[in-house]
Amino acid sequence: MLSKLRVNFFSRFDVKLTIFYTFALLLISLILSSFFYYRLQHNLLKQIDRILKDEAKELILEIEEDNHVVKGCKEFFGDISYRVFYPVFFRVMTHDGVTLWESENFSTILSKGIKGREHFTVTVDHRKKKRYRIYEKRFTFNDQGPFVAQMATNTKRSDKILENSLLNIFSAIPVVFLLSLCFGMYISQKPRKTLRNITAVTKKITSQNLAERLPLPPGQDEIRDLTLTINFMLDNIESSFDEVRQFTADVSHELRNPLSAVKGEIEVAVSRKRDAADYLETLHNCLERIDDLIKMVNDLFLISCFDAKKYDLKLSRINLAELLGEMYDFFLPIAQEKNIQFVIERCDTVFASVDRHKILQLLSNLMDNAVKFTPENQSITLSLIEHSHEVELDVSDSGIGIPEGNLENIFKRFYQVDPSRSGDERGAGLGLHICKRIAEVHGGSIAATRNTTKGVTFTVRLPLN
Ligand SMILES: Nc1ncnc2c1ncn2[C@@H]1O[C@H](COP(=O)(O)OP(=O)(O)O)[C@@H](O)[C@H]1O
Ligand SMILES: [Mg+2]
Repeated sequence: MLSKLRVNFFSRFDVKLTIFYTFALLLISLILSSFFYYRLQHNLLKQIDRILKDEAKELILEIEEDNHVVKGCKEFFGDISYRVFYPVFFRVMTHDGVTLWESENFSTILSKGIKGREHFTVTVDHRKKKRYRIYEKRFTFNDQGPFVAQMATNTKRSDKILENSLLNIFSAIPVVFLLSLCFGMYISQKPRKTLRNITAVTKKITSQNLAERLPLPPGQDEIRDLTLTINFMLDNIESSFDEVRQFTADVSHELRNPLSAVKGEIEVAVSRKRDAADYLETLHNCLERIDDLIKMVNDLFLISCFDAKKYDLKLSRINLAELLGEMYDFFLPIAQEKNIQFVIERCDTVFASVDRHKILQLLSNLMDNAVKFTPENQSITLSLIEHSHEVELDVSDSGIGIPEGNLENIFKRFYQVDPSRSGDERGAGLGLHICKRIAEVHGGSIAATRNTTKGVTFTVRLPLN
């Protein structure tokens, strides 16, 4: 199914990214170039305007010094005639438009227009294909006037500079395009490589090969985050698979033992002719084994319901002291058989909203263990204590105890400290796990602590509301 997936060239992730980066970089370069071009144009014009203004000032000073318009103009003309980059042309007129002096052919640059106020204009000489910038200024000197001075210069040099820069911009476009393309390809390589890695590794992962992990890319980016998340997910899947495998192995192991025992009993019974009492004993033994089997299958079913969150909690307001009393009465004769001192140390009257049947099962599992793992002439103590928000239920014994290293595992399914410790009454190691699940579905918890002298105390905490 996966191998049939053909990715169209333009749908490819890296191609899309490259195209995106290329156009983004190209656009940015164009915007920046336009911005610098207009700045350059603006600055060049400002420079020309400054020159024209300075020259007009010079001209007026010259006229003032000579106290004569034409004389001043001639002298000024002598000063400016050598200008190469920005050749200056000028004309001086009376305020009503009579020309007093003008540079050669000034009228071809600008016809006799007077605005009568300081301003700049641009004209184009189409014949010579030249652009001119013109500055006009009104002035008086030594109580004479008003006069009008018009200064002009062609913008050939600045136009050339602008033209060159425009040419540079256009010739840079293919270079920028190529560079952007390379950059885009380089940038999109890393995510593409990682995606290919992810695809390659995930294709290799099957239920038989869950140990495979993605190599961690360097850096601290989202790709590393994604890789870590996928690896974390694979860790979880692997441990879930391991749990399921272990569970299946444990279940088959635990089922095989009682079934083999039943088979053995029957085989011995039928190996030769026996009397009725022998057969009856065999049937009793078989029945006991089958009871164990049924209990285990029921426990497994309950655990699977907890796993699938399909447990049906029938909550009702229950007097826990009464429940404890009921269990005490049930286990008292069994404890007495072993001459165990079985006492309720403290029993507060506490009402809580619980599933009666499940709490009975929890208490029964704990007391069954206590009696099972407490040798003769020892003691078991029960207590029910009400706290402000929760109720605490303790089952403490002075029995064989649990080694420190095993405490953290005893609530795992099928876990047994050492099966030989249970003697004939060997269980399947499901009891404490069920206790834990029952406490948890009630919003509570269960913990085991080693007693300072001997034995162990199981503490169940259930919320009161
Ligand atoms: N009161 C106790 N004293 C000592 N060991 C205990 C006690 N309760 C439980 N254990 C240990 O914890 C293990 C798990 O208990 P449990 O889940 O009830 O399984 P099972 O009773 O079927 O063996 C037991 O095998 C036993 O070794
Ligand atoms: Mg048990």
